[in-house]
Amino acid sequence: MPITYSEKTNLFEIRTNNSSYLFGINPKGVVQHAYWGKPVIAEENADLLRSRHHSSFDADVDRETEEYGGWGGCNYAEPALKATFADGVRDLKLKYEGYEIFEANELVVHLADEHYALRVELHYKAIPEFDLVERKVRVLNEEAEPIRIEQVMAAVWTVQRLPEYRLTHVTGRWAGEYQLRTNVLSEGKKVLESRRGFTGPHSNPWFAVDGGKADEQSGQVWFGALGWSGNWKIVLEKTTFGHVRVAGGINDFDGSFLVAPGQVCESPVFTGGFSSAGFGGMSRNLHGYQRKYVLPSGRDRKVLYNSWEATEFAVTVEAQKELARQAAKLGVERFVVDDGWFGQRHSDRAGLGDWQVNPEKFPNGLQELIDEVQSLGMEFGLWVEPESVNPDSELYRRHPEWTYQFPTRTGTQLRNQLLLNLGLPEVKSFVLDFMTELLSSHEISFIKWDMNRTVTEPGISPLMEHSGEAIWLKHAEHLYEIWAELRARFPHVEFETCAGGGARIDLGILRFADQAWISDNTDARDRLTIQEGFSYAYSPAVMMCWVTESPHGFNGRSLPLSYRFHSSMMGGLGIGANISHWTDGEMAEAKRFVELYKEIRPTVLRGDLYRLESFRGSNVAAYQYVGKDRNESVVFVFLQSQFFGSEERRLLLQGLDEDAAYEVSREGRETVRLHGSTLMNVGIALTLKGDYGSELVRLKLLP
Ligand code: GLA
Repeated sequence: MPITYSEKTNLFEIRTNNSSYLFGINPKGVVQHAYWGKPVIAEENADLLRSRHHSSFDADVDRETEEYGGWGGCNYAEPALKATFADGVRDLKLKYEGYEIFEANELVVHLADEHYALRVELHYKAIPEFDLVERKVRVLNEEAEPIRIEQVMAAVWTVQRLPEYRLTHVTGRWAGEYQLRTNVLSEGKKVLESRRGFTGPHSNPWFAVDGGKADEQSGQVWFGALGWSGNWKIVLEKTTFGHVRVAGGINDFDGSFLVAPGQVCESPVFTGGFSSAGFGGMSRNLHGYQRKYVLPSGRDRKVLYNSWEATEFAVTVEAQKELARQAAKLGVERFVVDDGWFGQRHSDRAGLGDWQVNPEKFPNGLQELIDEVQSLGMEFGLWVEPESVNPDSELYRRHPEWTYQFPTRTGTQLRNQLLLNLGLPEVKSFVLDFMTELLSSHEISFIKWDMNRTVTEPGISPLMEHSGEAIWLKHAEHLYEIWAELRARFPHVEFETCAGGGARIDLGILRFADQAWISDNTDARDRLTIQEGFSYAYSPAVMMCWVTESPHGFNGRSLPLSYRFHSSMMGGLGIGANISHWTDGEMAEAKRFVELYKEIRPTVLRGDLYRLESFRGSNVAAYQYVGKDRNESVVFVFLQSQFFGSEERRLLLQGLDEDAAYEVSREGRETVRLHGSTLMNVGIALTLKGDYGSELVRLKLLP
């Protein structure tokens, strides 16, 4: 029974395989958080619910750990809900009204304001096998007048009392996303957020808190990931009584909105979890959860070729056909034409918005290329950027009023483009219609959906009454609705979420996206850092990685083809180089890697990931994937640089069966037979030398 309520103790218990989450109704009627951590016997812990008062300068201490507290009364913590009633009262007093449990793993706790007909439902869903709890809220206005909502968090998580709190999160920027950071949380707030209209590359809605000593394999970690692709915020607050609370949801910045009588406002889902197996345990649970509950299909990533880095905007049918022929020789399964195929799109200065095939580039239409790609045994995929428009486009000339802008202002152009206000019903229809037309008139199996700028100046011209309200919300809501509708209309089409690289990846969009483009930075060494940070929260099952040219444009770094493949084989493999220029030797080597990738793909995409070593503290980075039933494993090892000769280093593997024997194959060496106990406790010798060495090790369980 994952979820139970005890009349005796007034405690709710959400029990997962390896965690207990307790909260209950305290003697004052406050719904108070009690405990979250390793499994405990709930009924022995009723005393956690006592109310506590300190002074006339402080909120009652138990209020600090309120499960979902409104702003009202004596309450100074980050409010979960802040509302203003039609009569101007801005004080919210939520009281407990009752609960419902559905099929033993879903719980709804009902709260209501003491005076006004404002109801709040706290929704919980237990995911026992991954030690996760999904939370969201619904706020119902049963008043006769609208209620203004100024902040509505999806959930507030209270972390167990610890002597010290350390936050782990990711930060970054374009071409440098998912950089891991740690901070000690002292009294006050640390806010992770996006105010850029989408998830953003600067921060990602995922957090992990531990006592400062958890590592990859051990220690307790509390974490959460929010499913929202618009403005979001996660506030980590340490109060002066030493509690750490993590409130997360849609960002309140510039975004209050009215809930009309009879209407409901529903938050996104904030998934929280507890791991006592360190950060590795946390990630594996998040990955398993995404594969089983979040992602729209169980399909494996196809090996793709993308022409962007080869041709940029200079797309022609002949050159694309040539690339397709080369790609087919490598064993590529999906050929994708990127930007530049439509309108007057010869550079980033024009054409966005005009989603008609360019007749000079494709005199016989797109189908000619699609036929060629299909005759070579590959699927066809296409890039689009539906939310954007260049002022130099037919669309903008027809509908300048569709873009975000304030009257009296000229909208800021970024990459020479403006954004369409997707919140407008007519813009939503435009996008849905042109995508439907594109997908029904061509045999397209894959869409890379891009968004190459942030939202700025989110106004509508001319301003309508309340037009500023909820504008930030509507963009993301309509985006989800469009993706859901396109998936329903074209179930065979797979979608990739991309926003100038990895700026729109979160548990919200991943409900609709099969895969994610995590960075425009395809330098295979930089990618290891980006991919590692990404893997803390998100599954390799969605992580697209391309093999591109060497030396690479970003850093001018030269890397062997084998290194570039190893780095890209750790998720969904793609090739983005100009393969028309590759030598026969490069083509043959690449073909071997693609074949090898197809063999290990189920282990990489559906297996358990163990981060063995990281460039964050070592000269070596190593990542191990362990397949179903621990029958197969693949280890990717990278050496940064060799210094001071040849000291032998050993790499300890993880996740294997101690007592089972494995066949260990390493390129250029004799295959050996070793037991899990040896592999995990003594390890394998690392013999990489020089700079930028890499190796792939395969293990197979022996009968
Ligand atoms: C963005 C994407 C790239 C590519 C270009 C095309 O930067 O992330 O992969 O599609 O746009 O303009």
